[in-house]
Amino acid sequence: MTSETTFEANTDTLFTPFKAGSLELNHRVVMAPLTRSRTGSDRVPTDLMREYYEQRSSAAMIISEATIISPTGAGYAFTPGIYNQAQIDGWKNITNAVQANGAKMISQLWHCGRISHPDLQPNGETPVAPSASIPGEASGQAFTEAGWQPFVEPRALTEGDIKALISDFRQAAANAKAAGFDGIEIHSANGYLLNQFLSDDVNKRTDSYGGSIENRARLLFEVLDAVSEVWPLDKIGVRVSPWNTFLEATLSDNGALYEYVITKLNEKGIAYLSVVELANDDLNRPKDKPDLPESINAFVRQYFKGPILTAGGFKAETAAAEIALGNTDMVAFGQPYIANPDLVERFKKGADLNTPDFDTFYGGDAKGYTDYPFLK
Ligand code: PHB
Repeated sequence: MTSETTFEANTDTLFTPFKAGSLELNHRVVMAPLTRSRTGSDRVPTDLMREYYEQRSSAAMIISEATIISPTGAGYAFTPGIYNQAQIDGWKNITNAVQANGAKMISQLWHCGRISHPDLQPNGETPVAPSASIPGEASGQAFTEAGWQPFVEPRALTEGDIKALISDFRQAAANAKAAGFDGIEIHSANGYLLNQFLSDDVNKRTDSYGGSIENRARLLFEVLDAVSEVWPLDKIGVRVSPWNTFLEATLSDNGALYEYVITKLNEKGIAYLSVVELANDDLNRPKDKPDLPESINAFVRQYFKGPILTAGGFKAETAAAEIALGNTDMVAFGQPYIANPDLVERFKKGADLNTPDFDTFYGGDAKGYTDYPFLK
């Protein structure tokens, strides 16, 4: 551990104000989107969830846990939705509490695509995906109310289904506005539906949504156009995860596809681009890609000149260094935020951090959720 003085000098840059699009942030420490699986079967945000988010509202900005845009978007038991009035009301309680402490809150809009199971779908229907391509062994199993179950072969979306899906994104964006969020984030990362479309391994379509880079990226930009009918672009973030192998939505042409996508997002003037960084020891970092850059953030920065938010195992010092390098503007913390509701104060003081308890990450009650201690 370095001396107190060095520590504070090194992390100062984390605590300077920042404007992401039109989102005015008090500093640059962001709470990452974190699936905690604490709703009931109705997927309605609860009062316990309000307490959890409120405890963490010294963050500059909180990205909500991934939130499904429609019943068919579900991929896990007990994750929240934003497609009915009870869910909107539940979120409204949360955004009110978070904003009262000066933090901004973003709704992360999610569709899981093939990472699902008939038990999680309306009327036990088959999950939808770009193509009928079943997730492999490396993706594990689907988490349902009856426990872990093997994935099934999904059904390829028809062009009519795609129109309905885009309209579900637009409606979810409108619902997020009604729920009092400060903005929205389109989840196009980590192997879920929009990332499945980008992947030439998962997406085998022969229509205008498959094949070329432009075609595979088409749905993302149509979703962005749809949600920007509801929100100004400077309140919309987009999350991407170049080279990430999580849930096997892999690409043979990461460099070329993400150069195209990120350059185009740069021209749109979105609030921020959220980037999943892959450290050298990250399990989701491929080992065998000749074009794999050392730093995903540095790759992204070549093409994206607007605000960048990154996440991926950062500590206060490495986060400040990444900002100083110019590779990001804000840093999101995941596991540190699970265990430290007062993470900002701990960073400022150079205080020790509580250790997260993996066993209570997903599902359960207040234990391992709202009972991590604050600094005395
Ligand atoms: C998860 O629920 O495991 C999950 C959700 C969203 C992500 C990544 C993982 O982006």
